[in-house]
Amino acid sequence: MAQPAGERLLKLSRSVKRAMSWQTINRNLPVMDPKAPPVLTEAVREKIRGFFPRYETKRAVLLPALHIVQDALGHISWKAMAEIAALLEIQPSDVIDTISFYTHFWTHSKGKKVIVACRSVSCEVMGGVAVLEELKKRLGIDEHETTADGAYSLVTEECLAGCDHAPCVIINEKLHKRVRAEDVVKLLADHANARLEIPRSDLFDAPAKTAADPASQNSQAEDLVGTTSDVREMRES
Ligand code: FES
Repeated sequence: MAQPAGERLLKLSRSVKRAMSWQTINRNLPVMDPKAPPVLTEAVREKIRGFFPRYETKRAVLLPALHIVQDALGHISWKAMAEIAALLEIQPSDVIDTISFYTHFWTHSKGKKVIVACRSVSCEVMGGVAVLEELKKRLGIDEHETTADGAYSLVTEECLAGCDHAPCVIINEKLHKRVRAEDVVKLLADHANARLEIPRSDLFDAPAKTAADPASQNSQAEDLVGTTSDVREMRES
């Protein structure tokens, strides 16, 4: 028996949709509930406000604010973006622009440990592609995804500044040198695979310095330089 015209049309539209390489976005669907309670706690807001005296504009506090929110919530949701924008008196689109530029800001859940596999040339010629494929296979995730248990997320980045020890992988802030595909299982099973021998930078935990206290600002800048050189030394060792 012939199908009714309406049913044929529905089937046709479904198959056309499947064949399309793009999909339209339904702009009528809200991405967040405007009535939902705030996601930024007063403590997080206060920490962000603590950076205001350091800069001439609130807009300039965007990067520290994103780090603070991600540290507190694990990732930066649409609602958090809107609240950050309101706090800094900028547009939500400014927040999204910045987040989407950097691979280390997460708009969906981030694992306890983030594995960064190098995708630059030195690592590639030394077997980096095989290491990345093994990581994907063992974790069961693709790039910028998180394992179901929330233990690991995976990203790739350009040169990790360890070319002479290629291929390299960073877990959180710990650099692993000369990693081979056959090392991946052992590396993932090692509970200390993200342990650093030096303290983590406290840049985003430091108490706010006032604009009227240039000496303390200088000392903060020196702290940062010290941290950077510590990391360089660690990578060279
Ligand atoms: S190319 Fe991989 S660390 Fe430089």
